[in-house]
Amino acid sequence: MSSLYNFDGLKVTAFESRRAEEIEKLIRYHGGVPRVAPSMREIPLSQSTDAHKFAKNLLAGNFDIVILMTGVGTRALVKAVITKYPEKEFIKALKKTTIVARGPKPVAALREMGLKANITVPEPNTWRDVLTTLENETDLKGKRVTVQEYGISNKEFISALRKKGAKVTPVSIYKWALPENLEPLRDAIKSIKNSKEDISIFTSSQQIYHLFEVASQDGSQDELKEGLKKIVIASIGPTTSETLNRFGISPDYEPDSPKMGNLIREMARLGKELVRKKRTAHKNGVDTNSWRQVDMIWSKGSKKKRKEITKNSVFMKACRLEETDYTPVWLMRQAGRYMREYRELRSKVSFLQLCKTPELAAEVTLSAVDRLAVDAAIIFADILLIVEPLGVGLEFSKGEGPRIKRPVRSGKAVDRINDFDPESLNYVYDALRITRRALDPEKALIGFAGAPFTVASYMIEGGGSRNYENTKGLMYRDPGAWHTIMEKLSIATAAYLNNQIKAGADVVQLFDSWVGCLSRDDYKEFVLPHMKKLISQIDKDAPVIHFGTGTGALLDLIKESGSQVIGLDWRVDLAKAWRQIGYDKAVQGNLDPVLLFSTPSEIRRRTKKILDKAKGRPGFIFNLGHGILPKTPVDNVLALIDFVHEYSTKK
Ligand code: CP3
Repeated sequence: MSSLYNFDGLKVTAFESRRAEEIEKLIRYHGGVPRVAPSMREIPLSQSTDAHKFAKNLLAGNFDIVILMTGVGTRALVKAVITKYPEKEFIKALKKTTIVARGPKPVAALREMGLKANITVPEPNTWRDVLTTLENETDLKGKRVTVQEYGISNKEFISALRKKGAKVTPVSIYKWALPENLEPLRDAIKSIKNSKEDISIFTSSQQIYHLFEVASQDGSQDELKEGLKKIVIASIGPTTSETLNRFGISPDYEPDSPKMGNLIREMARLGKELVRKKRTAHKNGVDTNSWRQVDMIWSKGSKKKRKEITKNSVFMKACRLEETDYTPVWLMRQAGRYMREYRELRSKVSFLQLCKTPELAAEVTLSAVDRLAVDAAIIFADILLIVEPLGVGLEFSKGEGPRIKRPVRSGKAVDRINDFDPESLNYVYDALRITRRALDPEKALIGFAGAPFTVASYMIEGGGSRNYENTKGLMYRDPGAWHTIMEKLSIATAAYLNNQIKAGADVVQLFDSWVGCLSRDDYKEFVLPHMKKLISQIDKDAPVIHFGTGTGALLDLIKESGSQVIGLDWRVDLAKAWRQIGYDKAVQGNLDPVLLFSTPSEIRRRTKKILDKAKGRPGFIFNLGHGILPKTPVDNVLALIDFVHEYSTKK
């Protein structure tokens, strides 16, 4: 077991019944002190009238669609049915319907009977996923649908099906009862009320109902809620989280994949940090029963004191080439589509809307930091936001990336570009302010902008490009117009970044993602003077990170531009590149983002190589060589971050 996946003696309460022993072992294995209070008892309805009614209707051909919600419930249903009807006939009748499995567990139960689901619902398998999958596959109007339910009935789901015109018959297979012996549950409640627990783990909705039922029997529901304010709440998945919300409690953590082992392991990794955060929030008056990332208050002290702490954080020290206890790490594009939380949010709002809603942008920024345990936050925004107030039109179309509606292809078009009004991007500064207020003072907040060349390339091409024909075309054909657009963008970018710094950015990064397409001579003539001027205008309080890709042949020129930190892509050898740049500059990089599609052991092997090349020299910030890709497995990202911290820690 990695030392990072360790509760380090935290007290962890769980309410599992069926798998009580297993969860207790898991918690102990990860160094936690378990308290498992079984919260329910299963009453199999082997004489279930519901199950028998279901079978009778099924055999009579009265159902079009059979929805199986759980594996245990499916098996129980079959068991109950075959006490009265021949199994063969039952299976034959089932085969005539459209069988819908909510997830892998009912699929497995069906397989045991030699049956296959006609429709399988994708993760995270909530009832909403069942509904959308069904709607995509079939018209529900007038269909006779039966739903196998486990435990209490899901009224929202049933009524949503009815709203779509289906005729629904729920079959309730199991009923839950409180355990016969309520003492363990009462003790757990007492312990939570008395602040003797650190983490509370919920692995089903029913546990929450029962916990509150027992508390209300004793008249201590409010005290229980009060106690829950000081302990970290972990939820196995979206349905359990919804139930917690219904009781006015927001879960502090939910894993991507609803598996007990996952949840315990991830809590072992993040538990200490989350406990510290929640207790601090509670102490500072935040209502931690129901809160968002942006509600966090780390300190009620002065802003000056906060700034002082951040200034001495590992990340800021590395920017200034000072010794640190370990190598700081963050990842370009660390908040994005590879994260479930992000995808869920994006299914509700467009990318631009997300960028323009400060509370949401801040929430996304902060949840990535919480989840990854990186040393810096980067504000959620985009390098192209700045082109909108410049008047060229900006849209992000599905799957195609950014599009500029009126590409700038001539000197005249360059002249038509609006003067930049820094206030047009107030929403970015607001997001920074909210984020900085809620972010751990030990962590740096990174503001950013696109560098003029890269932003100009989008404005001129109208989108992404392979060869930059139009960009270089304008540059060679009309150098005057080229310098004008670069000048306009430099002025705008300096103002934009200085406003970001005023709003709370501790450091700023310039993304010159595509500048590597230029020759040295062209960089010197068409880019360098603008970069020098731009960087010299940025508030000296905030270090500048200057990043580009394909810049191996330009590094000495990039150094001349004047930033404090230089970003390296994965194509260069870190040791060679740093030697060439000189150890008077900090560097950031440079793992190939595609490596994150391999295995944790391969990731560790290659990360170690990079850390060894940096030799523990002051002024190294670990990052990828370019942004993280949308399909990257989160677990591999966690393995990377943990390894950087663990391996680089000065022993
Ligand atoms: O690092 C972070 O977490 C902060 C957020 C951030 C985004 N874009 C969010 C984003 C940052 C720092 C950027 C920078 C950016 N944007 C760059 C420079 C870095 C790089 O990768 O080279 C560039 C070239 C852009 C322009 C851009 N924005 C492109 C080409 C695309 C489409 C391609 C893609 O990856 O989807 C975007 C959209 C974009 N920017 C998304 C995100 C999370 C995806 C939007 C979505 O949710 O659909």
